Amino acid sequence: MDVFQIAGPVKLSGHVDVNGSKNAALPIMAAALLAPGRSSLLQVPQLADISVCKELIDQLGCRVERLEDGTLTIDATRIDNPVGPYEIVRKMRASICILGPLLARCGRVEVSMPGGCAIGDRPINLHLIGLQQLGAQIHLKNGYVIAEAPQGLTGASIFLGGPFGSTVLGTANVLMAAVLAKGRTIIESAACEPEIADLANCLNTMGARISGIGSPRLTVEGVSRLHPVQYRVIPDRIEAGTFMAAAAATRGELHIGNCRLEDMMAVVDKLRGMGVKVEPNGDGCTVIGGPRVEPADITTQPYPGFPTDLQAQFMAALALAEGNSVVVEKIFPDRFLHVAELNRMAANLRKEGPAVIIAGVKKLIAAPVMASDLRASAALVIAGLAAEGVTTVNRVYHIDRGYERIEERLNRAGAKITREEGGTV
Ligand code: EPU
Repeated sequence: MDVFQIAGPVKLSGHVDVNGSKNAALPIMAAALLAPGRSSLLQVPQLADISVCKELIDQLGCRVERLEDGTLTIDATRIDNPVGPYEIVRKMRASICILGPLLARCGRVEVSMPGGCAIGDRPINLHLIGLQQLGAQIHLKNGYVIAEAPQGLTGASIFLGGPFGSTVLGTANVLMAAVLAKGRTIIESAACEPEIADLANCLNTMGARISGIGSPRLTVEGVSRLHPVQYRVIPDRIEAGTFMAAAAATRGELHIGNCRLEDMMAVVDKLRGMGVKVEPNGDGCTVIGGPRVEPADITTQPYPGFPTDLQAQFMAALALAEGNSVVVEKIFPDRFLHVAELNRMAANLRKEGPAVIIAGVKKLIAAPVMASDLRASAALVIAGLAAEGVTTVNRVYHIDRGYERIEERLNRAGAKITREEGGTV
């Protein structure tokens, strides 16, 4: 198991390019299952989660290949086995997004029910309610969700809001099922995240008829078939925001390329409030940290609010602010495993229910720390860049799930991170 040794403090300076979005690519790979034939997806990042998704699609009887130019091709001419087995779903919960497309294409699908994870319980009740409203019969057996619609699906008006707002992958599943349903579907309280807009744009390129893209009301006019597609996945706004938080925490100056600022208004607004300059520049932006981060209050919300997937990274930056900040987590109220680890690096954070009160400190001090989930590990890397001494981040496989060779990319901008084998299990 790899560990990172991060020598700090450094001031990041230079250029880093953002890769394609993991959370857009995963449902778009599932969408390719809707059309017999070979689809080509461009700008799909090379990540552990994408490899798991490839494995999942391969075992359905399809063929996934990565070409030398980075294009990912998915040949979904045949689907022999519409099953998402436990052995794969347990490695990646996003595997659940094959549910909608396989139900629509094959009339039957079995997918292992995903369990909880480090960031919370993560139910899928809304996915199932939405599919039921399209006419699917659903039951659970031996830990598997079995969904059937032998006569096909029928359009319906579906309210998809839950106790914490909209659901990203729930919207993806219902949308991918609705595109082949008979008649019109309205999804109310749909997720507005750019990744869902990207999925909907990809589906329309495949011949679907979706309107209201990017809004909380999606209208779908069902079509009888879709065709394969060539489609370029959007850049990863969470990766971009992670680099921005790193620039802020290290008081650095980073040019971030391939970054769509229009998808990141809440993040940019917060950074500016923290005394960080964010200037549009070419196909991205330049982020310039101030002499010291100013405090900020952050509440995570569904898009266009501040994303939960950047909560941990911004907490690492705010740990060094001149004053007190409050971070409230409204999507996953237990997503705070990084708090205790940041405190081991001399941060002063206090958890109060779904909130963390941050008393800013002048400096962080290196320590061995344990990555617990993808975004928490990114926060520890940011803290390590800013801390005095050598920070060891254990369980780096968490970060490899969502960031492609992050150490090499940050090192080109002045970081001093080495990847070593070993570490604490
Ligand atoms: N929820 C329900 N019922 C459901 C589904 C969700 O109550 O059936 C609740 C969840 O418990 C949560 C809220 O609704 O409180 C939102 O969850 P959502 O369904 O939107 O999460 P997700 O689709 O499973 C995606 C991302 C996550 C990201 C969340 C929120 C992917 C592959 N995953 O998960 O990304 O945190 O949306 O934006 O797109 C990450 O990349 O690190 C990551 C965890």
